[in-house]
Amino acid sequence: MLKFERNPNSFIYRHRRLLFSIFLIIVIPLIVCLIWWLTRPEAVPAKEVKRTFMQNITSLDSAVSRLQANIHAKQPAAIQESFKRARIAYKRVEFISAYYSPETTRALNGPNIPEVDDDLRVNEPQGFQVLEEMVFPEVATDAYPDMEHAANVIRANVNRLRKISETNDLTDSHIFDAMRLEVFRIVSMGITGFDSPVAFHSLPEAAAALESVHEQWGHYTRNSKNNALGARLDSTFHAAIRYVRKSPDFNAFDRLVFIKQYANPLSSQLLDAQKVLGIPVFTEKRLLSPSARTLTDSGAFNANYFINFEEQAMTTQRVALGKMLFFNPILSNNSGRTCATCHQPDKAFTDGEPKSFAVGFNGQRISRNAPTLLNASFQAVQFADSRVTFLEDQASDVIRNPDEMHGSLPDAVAALRKQDGSRKLFEDAYADGVTESNLKNAIASYIRSLSSLDSRLDRHFRCSENALTVEEKAGFNLFMGKAKCATCHFFPLFNGTVPPAYVETESEVLGTPATAEGKAVDPDVGKFVLTKREPHRYAFKTPTVRHVALTAPYMHNGVFKTLEEVVDFYDRGGGNGLGFNLENQTLPFDELNLTDAEKRALVAFMKIL
Ligand code: HEC
Ligand code: HEC
Repeated sequence: MLKFERNPNSFIYRHRRLLFSIFLIIVIPLIVCLIWWLTRPEAVPAKEVKRTFMQNITSLDSAVSRLQANIHAKQPAAIQESFKRARIAYKRVEFISAYYSPETTRALNGPNIPEVDDDLRVNEPQGFQVLEEMVFPEVATDAYPDMEHAANVIRANVNRLRKISETNDLTDSHIFDAMRLEVFRIVSMGITGFDSPVAFHSLPEAAAALESVHEQWGHYTRNSKNNALGARLDSTFHAAIRYVRKSPDFNAFDRLVFIKQYANPLSSQLLDAQKVLGIPVFTEKRLLSPSARTLTDSGAFNANYFINFEEQAMTTQRVALGKMLFFNPILSNNSGRTCATCHQPDKAFTDGEPKSFAVGFNGQRISRNAPTLLNASFQAVQFADSRVTFLEDQASDVIRNPDEMHGSLPDAVAALRKQDGSRKLFEDAYADGVTESNLKNAIASYIRSLSSLDSRLDRHFRCSENALTVEEKAGFNLFMGKAKCATCHFFPLFNGTVPPAYVETESEVLGTPATAEGKAVDPDVGKFVLTKREPHRYAFKTPTVRHVALTAPYMHNGVFKTLEEVVDFYDRGGGNGLGFNLENQTLPFDELNLTDAEKRALVAFMKIL
């Protein structure tokens, strides 16, 4: 057997203590490091997202401070440049700030018009869009003090955003929801010029917003085992951003292609990614379904959303009952009127009259034009002056109105109780049979069932084939871009319900004329009747332009017989373009400078809705 002998003269033996110490000093820390590395906590994506978000707020703060300095130094070119940079910095925080701090975000980037709040206080506008109108198209060199003030207010709101955000804990579910909502915000507002109305800086801003979402999404892929998914989404992000960046200018941007080929795949893949990562998707109720893959999915919008109580949700039985009542003269004390007298199904539930005839048919008309009921459920308020919130209350308003139905709910209930057939329908639909509130809810349920988001445009987005003509496509792009229509008739409902939250429905002041000659503004003061606040004088709820091919004549007073006349009115700059001098007109006053071909394309597009 081999035997090693200790050699007392060997180097190792002589220095064995020193070597042992060196071993301890080097190897033990290495082992400790290795153990730490193997057992270290994984970076928590939501924390990383928050860290990046806070850094982005800091960048926004410095960008605004440079803007302040340039205003102070009265340097026009530098002011415009730093304004644009500050907007880009804002767009990098937008998707999280709009989600977690909607009020502060509105203070930073609300429209430049006074706002009447729920307590009927009139709040002066603040934020970037106020400053924008002093800085573009040219810097208003006589308004430096106002500019300085506006910039100070923006800076203060950035600080407020920082303070609020410090204490917010972000969750994965919310972050994914916010990311998809940002894609929807870009589609429905960003690319329409909604929040860059004078500077026309919307496309670089949309690209910056997408880049920020992409960067934040990256925190979820760093440790992800699913590399294929990450790679696919990365390339979808890159392609979308590239497509936005390569457009030569605002008017030339092809919105139809962007939505169909880039934005829709992006929001869909974000939802897929969320599911693969095991992050729960909300089940909370919203008008826009939290699990909608795109804005143009069938079923993306929930007609049951704007109801008062869950118990009032529509059912097949209630819809059938409501339909029977809608066409039933019993609601007008058998005076021969039904809801369908003025809301005729073959005219998209309108009556073709400028203003509907009053009860009695002695030629008297009621004060307004009958609007379509298709998609009425996608509005937070009803009637041109927004005076009613729930469709239930709308029905009782109309039935009682001496000019409209001249009926009475108690009489109708008494009469319906006596009819076996009707009683049976009520009992099938409600535990407590024939009551006033069930009657109202049944009619409301029928109206909710009249949602119809299945036009040729919707099919174009849903199917792989192309469903539109060249002219219709051009019309869509004008509606969403140069003609600014979609800054009020929001995609894809094309009404005034504001995306991407879809909880409020806006009214606007256009200066609709009393007659087609356009000599004077229509005397109907609209929402002002309700609130008695000046910003609401002549304000009307923005109606949907879906189904407009069937709803002539147009506007609350039916003043325009054709869509061509409507487009002409907008092209001239609304009431102020006609010379009315309305201080509170919210439609931009400038002419749109549409060519004849562009006007024809706009009309062709509206007709496919
Ligand atoms: C005399 C004609 C007439 C009759 C009958 C009538 N309506 Fe209307 N309806 C109108 C007019 C006009 C308006 C717009 C009134 C306004 O905006 O102030 C309207 C508005 C509405 C709206 C609001 C839509 C929106 O987008 O704001 C709904 C919903 C509605 N009607 C449902 C009904 C129902 C249900 C009945 C039967 C119970 C009915 N209407 C009977 C003429 C009529
Ligand atoms: C500032 C917001 C705003 C803008 C921008 C806007 N609209 Fe409107 N639109 C409204 C409002 C509000 C009404 C209702 C006015 C009324 O009843 O007097 C309306 C009504 C209409 C109607 C009539 C609908 C009906 O059934 O009576 C059509 C059609 C229409 N708009 C198309 C367009 C087109 C096309 C454009 C772009 C050229 C456009 N709108 C731009 C707010 C706007």
